[in-house]
Amino acid sequence: MSPSHSEPYLSANERHPERSLQFDFVRATENAALSAVDWLGRGDKESADAAASDAIRGTLEQSDFCGEVVIGEGIKDNAPGIFLGEKIGSWKFPSPRFNIAVDPIDGTTNISKGLPNSISVMAAAHVPHGAKAAMLNIPTFYSEKLAYGPAVVAAMERDPALRFTLDTPVAQILERVAAALGKQVRQVYVVVLDRPRHAKLIAEIRTAGAALRLISDGDVTAAVAPSLHDSGMDLYMGIGGSPEGVLTAAGVLALGGDQQLRMWPRDDAERAEITATPAGADLGRIFYAKDLVTSPSAIFCATGISDSALLPGVRLIGRKVITHSILMRSQSRSVRYIKTVHDLDFKTIRRSPDRKDHYV
Ligand code: FBP
Repeated sequence: MSPSHSEPYLSANERHPERSLQFDFVRATENAALSAVDWLGRGDKESADAAASDAIRGTLEQSDFCGEVVIGEGIKDNAPGIFLGEKIGSWKFPSPRFNIAVDPIDGTTNISKGLPNSISVMAAAHVPHGAKAAMLNIPTFYSEKLAYGPAVVAAMERDPALRFTLDTPVAQILERVAAALGKQVRQVYVVVLDRPRHAKLIAEIRTAGAALRLISDGDVTAAVAPSLHDSGMDLYMGIGGSPEGVLTAAGVLALGGDQQLRMWPRDDAERAEITATPAGADLGRIFYAKDLVTSPSAIFCATGISDSALLPGVRLIGRKVITHSILMRSQSRSVRYIKTVHDLDFKTIRRSPDRKDHYV
């Protein structure tokens, strides 16, 4: 439809500023991965996190947007990260406003032990003029989560008998996912974080006969994987970090999958703390991905640090370093896989503490 004469003409980039800025975000996760990989296997997750955070801040302060971190670090383990409420971007007037969710490293323990499954990951959602926010902050440390791909979403829309929620018994969820995918239950691959709190869930999945893939850390990759047609994963289940759940929501929205999430207070003290705030009214609520990332103008990007179901990790070959990233935009559902070759004799990264460009 052509614009009316009374309305000012807005280009696609003005209507959806994430369309052009998305490449700056992926540059930031690339730089975070290149900075974090130096700490692979060195037993020092704080330094890895600090290096990745400095690279993201430094890279993005050169980009013209006003970013408010609504999902950041520091809640989980007082990490030296990018914090809730922090401002990132240049904040040059009149740049577009974004809500940012960021985990400079998802899988910091994996980095410190030199294990697979670590990524640098961000989501950014444009806050339209007049709107208060474009992403929801989930205040509990942990949430219950269930994530699945587009084929399961479509089957649930088509056939009410295949629908399930976080309250559906595990065996029935697995039967319905199997039916949605045209598989037997034993062919359904479920990813779960290997934690004592999941003992009952793990036993139920095994009793039902599904194939189980336990991971030590990093549930953003695990929860986004079922939405990718070639990941080999069908379902992510269990209790993981709430910030990771909001990041996942941005990822699955761009892929046509979904995630159900419900706050899971760790103890009575956390429950009482949340109950005393407005978020207390939502304690029992099941949030779907679109409830967590409310703006359609959103992007999700991640760069592999060590190998995962989502992305290969950083590879050093002579004086060249190769990174692999995924960049997705929910408005267009475009999914870009970006392989970048960085030349160590030329590549520099702007880091936040001294705001200078450093060789890698
Ligand atoms: P970080 O690397 O950001 O610390 O998170 C790793 C992680 O495995 C997340 O992916 C997951 O959501 C969360 O920790 C689970 O928490 P916990 O390790 O306390 O079970």
